[in-house]
Amino acid sequence: MAMAALTASSSSSSAITLLNKPFFPNRSYFFSSNSHSPLLRFSASSSSVRPRFPSAAISSVAPESDLNKNGTSKIEIEETQVFACPVCYEPLMRKGPSGINLQAIYRSGFKCGRCNKTYSSKDEYLDLTVTADLEDYDEVKPITTELFRSPLVSFLYERGWRQNFKRSGFPGPDEEFRMAEEYFKEAEGGVLVDVSCGSGLFSRKFAKSGKYSGVIALDYSENMLRQCKEFIKNDDTFDNSTNIAVVRADVSRLPFPSGSVDAVHAGAALHCWPSPTNAIAEICRVLRSGGVFVGTTFLRYSPSTPWIIRPFQSRILQSYNYLMQDEIKDVCTSCGLTDYEDYIQDSFIMFTARKP
Ligand SMILES: C[S@@+](CC[C@H](N)C(=O)[O-])C[C@H]1O[C@@H](n2cnc3c(N)ncnc32)[C@H](O)[C@@H]1O
Repeated sequence: MAMAALTASSSSSSAITLLNKPFFPNRSYFFSSNSHSPLLRFSASSSSVRPRFPSAAISSVAPESDLNKNGTSKIEIEETQVFACPVCYEPLMRKGPSGINLQAIYRSGFKCGRCNKTYSSKDEYLDLTVTADLEDYDEVKPITTELFRSPLVSFLYERGWRQNFKRSGFPGPDEEFRMAEEYFKEAEGGVLVDVSCGSGLFSRKFAKSGKYSGVIALDYSENMLRQCKEFIKNDDTFDNSTNIAVVRADVSRLPFPSGSVDAVHAGAALHCWPSPTNAIAEICRVLRSGGVFVGTTFLRYSPSTPWIIRPFQSRILQSYNYLMQDEIKDVCTSCGLTDYEDYIQDSFIMFTARKP
């Protein structure tokens, strides 16, 4: 991909490179000289120029040409091919080292040129929620989302909570991962978003497989994401160059440009989403043509549930959004996904569909 290089006159000795054309010709960019601060400053005047979105090819290794003569990294401003503003979906401008890996993302600042909103990794994760920089307002979501924000549930999740799913027919993480990988074969080499990743049980497996150019572990729960970071830190097979990012976002407001993502995984998540239709519509929006969605969830009742009990398992009586096979297929199809397939074992369902 062509690179437009622009050397800025700045008190900083670092050269500035604009990557991933098109460059915004009528925008001006200003940089703070502290390139190591995760809270980087941008300034950009508004522009009517709409960027094109190149396909999502990502390199986590800085090319030689990106190094200054003394061997240090240049400060780079790029229009990210991966992240978009959760308010307006404009691709975010990024200042900092390139690549989808924990260190590069922690050291980068992101800014929406249209909304002027900035996003950064103030905590253990990159916060790309609409509420990211609000000081006085904290959104309270339905209980199925709030439950997982608790530190205790986040701590217990991979220490017993998740194992209980086996009683409802979930085959277990290793087998679920193997099954999902089968469906994702065509998406290999691309960007995979693990939506509602929890503490990163599957995100870590996808990242370790080395089959994707980037794996985004995404969840709404701050504590799940902290736990995810902790597991990564304590796992020797991960290093600073592993292609994984930990991002906070709401599934009904995914921070990715339309048609930019190759694969979306959502393990044991659909029943927790406040609106499965909004979530799946959003997943369909971010998938590229040919992109694959794989999800698992609990069915409202299993094929072996006696008829007499089924009426008592209506959605109105339950706090989780437990759907049935036909409903999941219906939602996927009505959101524009095709080639729906599923696999059922007791109350466990794994389903897949594709963006046409
Ligand atoms: C049961 S856990 C699933 C974790 C993991 N994917 C797995 O397969 O075990 C459900 C996850 O959905 C997340 N979640 C709930 N509401 C969400 C929302 N609105 N946006 C994003 N994630 C959400 C929760 O924080 C929780 O981590």
